[in-house]
Amino acid sequence: MAKILLTGGAGYIGSHTYVGLVEAGYDVVILDNFSNAKADVPARLERITGQPVTVYRGDVLDRALLDRVFAEHRIDGVVHFAALKAVGESTQRPLDYIHTNVGGLLTLLSAMDAAGVRRIVFSSSATVYGETDIQPIPEDHPRTYTSPYAYTKITGELTLEQVVAADPRWAVGVLRYFNPVGAHKSALIGEDPADLPNNLMPYIAKVATGDLPRLRVFGDDYDTPDGTGVRDYIHVEDLADGHVLSIAALIETGESHAVNLGTGKGSSVLDVIRAYSEACGRDLPYDIVGRRDGDVAVLTARPEKARDVLGFEAKRSLEDMCRSSWAWVSGQLSNDLKP
Ligand SMILES: NC(=O)c1ccc[n+]([C@@H]2O[C@H](COP(=O)([O-])OP(=O)(O)OC[C@H]3O[C@@H](n4cnc5c(N)ncnc54)[C@H](O)[C@@H]3O)[C@@H](O)[C@H]2O)c1
Repeated sequence: MAKILLTGGAGYIGSHTYVGLVEAGYDVVILDNFSNAKADVPARLERITGQPVTVYRGDVLDRALLDRVFAEHRIDGVVHFAALKAVGESTQRPLDYIHTNVGGLLTLLSAMDAAGVRRIVFSSSATVYGETDIQPIPEDHPRTYTSPYAYTKITGELTLEQVVAADPRWAVGVLRYFNPVGAHKSALIGEDPADLPNNLMPYIAKVATGDLPRLRVFGDDYDTPDGTGVRDYIHVEDLADGHVLSIAALIETGESHAVNLGTGKGSSVLDVIRAYSEACGRDLPYDIVGRRDGDVAVLTARPEKARDVLGFEAKRSLEDMCRSSWAWVSGQLSNDLKP
């Protein structure tokens, strides 16, 4: 079976993709500097998969380390998650974001080229579409950036397009995620934000656990069914399945693709609060406050291209997302993993 390198494989989406790849029969090697991952993630991955985990602790900007990984393993393809990801923080630290996200990709691509590994899946984001009224968003929507973070994702995509155009031996999968949420069904891995979360689901999770007192809903006067913002939430296990399909397609066909990974269905803030309240068994308190700068009414994916090109379809519901998130943050292990 093919061997895949996951940069950032100890992080939120990377760890779920690790499990998906191992379950699909791939050999997987993780490279992560653990700047945004807990040290015990590899042990948790071993517990879920029942197999030893190969981890290199180090930086994707460390070319010598990358050369060593490619020399020690016959890698068939790379899934590149390692990046800084906080949109707000990127406006304060643009150089760090460009250095890690663009510099990291360039270092990785050079090392891959030298090792003759030319299959890569790139973590991109719906943020490359900017603020748009066109909903659901198709992949050929123009790209524009409103933050240094979005700039790094667009620059990554453009760089990969140049590499593919110049050398047909390369095959690239660009995956534009919408709003990944939820956790693995084992409740052993999930999202673990160190700081005050900016996104709705991790914030709700902290209200549910009592770490934060109340939720703030930014605006209820949008042109949506209940007036609150509508987003396309996708279960992180569905997202992981999308990566397994993407790397498999690159290895099998050698054809590049750029697709949205979303459900195509929007849920409002109040829908999510209701579903989470149901999952955790109590009505979560919230206040309606004014709109937040830069928020748009609706952001949803056109999901058909991922279905047609990769055979990808998100299977899990908003209820699954909230239940798995609650099980993770409240520490409920699934029955088969209980000691
Ligand atoms: N979570 C989202 O909502 C979302 C949405 C769209 C795109 N993305 C992208 O998906 C990818 C994964 O996101 P995530 O939510 O799992 O984030 P995450 O922070 O949980 O995972 C990123 C991982 O990369 C590691 N890392 C960071 N810098 C590194 C470096 N220089 N060298 C080696 N490892 C490094 C971190 O320790 C972490 O384990 C990122 O590229 C992110 O931009 C995330």
